[in-house]
Amino acid sequence: MKIGLTYNLKDEVSPLSIMNNEFNEEFDSRKTIDALSLIFEKYGFKTAMLGARLDMADRLKKEKIDFVFNIAEGYYGRNRESFVPSVLEAFNIPYSGSDPLTLGMTLDKIVTKKLLHAAKIPTPAYYVVRKIEDIKDAEDRLEYPVITKPAWEGSSKGVYNSSKALDKHGLKKNIKILFKKYPNQPVLVEEYIKGREITVGVIGNEFPKVMALMEIVNKKHPGEDFFYSLEVKRDWENLVDYESPPRIHNVLETQIRRFALMAYREFGCRDVSRIDFRISEYNDPYLLEINPLPGLSPEYGDLAIMARKNKIAYEELVISILNSAFSRYGIREVKKKSVEAMGS
Ligand SMILES: Nc1ncnc2c1ncn2[C@@H]1O[C@H](COP(=O)(O)OP(=O)(O)OP(=O)(O)O)[C@@H](O)[C@H]1O
Ligand SMILES: [Mg+2]
Repeated sequence: MKIGLTYNLKDEVSPLSIMNNEFNEEFDSRKTIDALSLIFEKYGFKTAMLGARLDMADRLKKEKIDFVFNIAEGYYGRNRESFVPSVLEAFNIPYSGSDPLTLGMTLDKIVTKKLLHAAKIPTPAYYVVRKIEDIKDAEDRLEYPVITKPAWEGSSKGVYNSSKALDKHGLKKNIKILFKKYPNQPVLVEEYIKGREITVGVIGNEFPKVMALMEIVNKKHPGEDFFYSLEVKRDWENLVDYESPPRIHNVLETQIRRFALMAYREFGCRDVSRIDFRISEYNDPYLLEINPLPGLSPEYGDLAIMARKNKIAYEELVISILNSAFSRYGIREVKKKSVEAMGS
């Protein structure tokens, strides 16, 4: 059986990556692709590096790919993550991870928040500024502080240490910065949830399991207000401690697990996702967003760090995702102790 890998590489050079130094932020390092293909080869699969460019379609036909392990983030617009799975569906080739619709719904944080509301899953209060001319409507609609984010980015693109605004002057300044950096994209203005941050790994399909919870902790100034900005993610080794399992009350943990699984099902996530929460000072959890294409770097991917902290080998994590996907297609699963024994 031949597994094709679809991905985008951080060191790809394009006019946009030269103009916008955040363009490649979500992409993967060669090390991650190598680590994944090494694992697949260890289990007896042939592998093919397909990337995520348009020539991928020709190669899918020529190389007789049986299954695709997809981690491609895509290039442009809010459907960029949906591109590879859409092509794979057109060719009727089985692949890992969520389908194009789930990837589109979750990449667009505005759509995500509407569906979270409909499902009665708590998420921070928000409004949307769709174009720079509407900036005048952006005053004092929420209690400060508020945080601004581009509507459909990931890896904290457009989320800077300065993105938290304490008043309308700061807010307007931040909105202007985002329209400049991401000109054709609405700005999401959200109530800033002061408190702790917890991310949740979920694996599976019909009966998804919580792999673990992990707290993102301020390493330099423990206990001081802090958020997972672009600057912090880029310097994670110096600025972040990861605590998994986090030290939280049982009741809160049960709530977070329940909301994570509700969201996973509600959005039709498949095989794997990482779901981000902030916990208010009153211990109320708020779901920020759902990541059905979580970074899988063995070194710095949050899911891999979470696995490591819970004594789950990287290989076991990857094979669990693969097996989840195989089971959806009736492909014989790889024999390996999986993370299914964990959590509920
Ligand atoms: N409403 C909020 N209140 C407090 N902090 C927030 C809020 N929204 C976002 N943040 C902070 O900004 C970070 C990035 O935001 P978010 O997770 O929404 O963006 P992302 O770029 O899609 O992230 P990812 O890398 O997980 O794809 C969060 O991890 C959190 O630390
Ligand atoms: Mg996030």
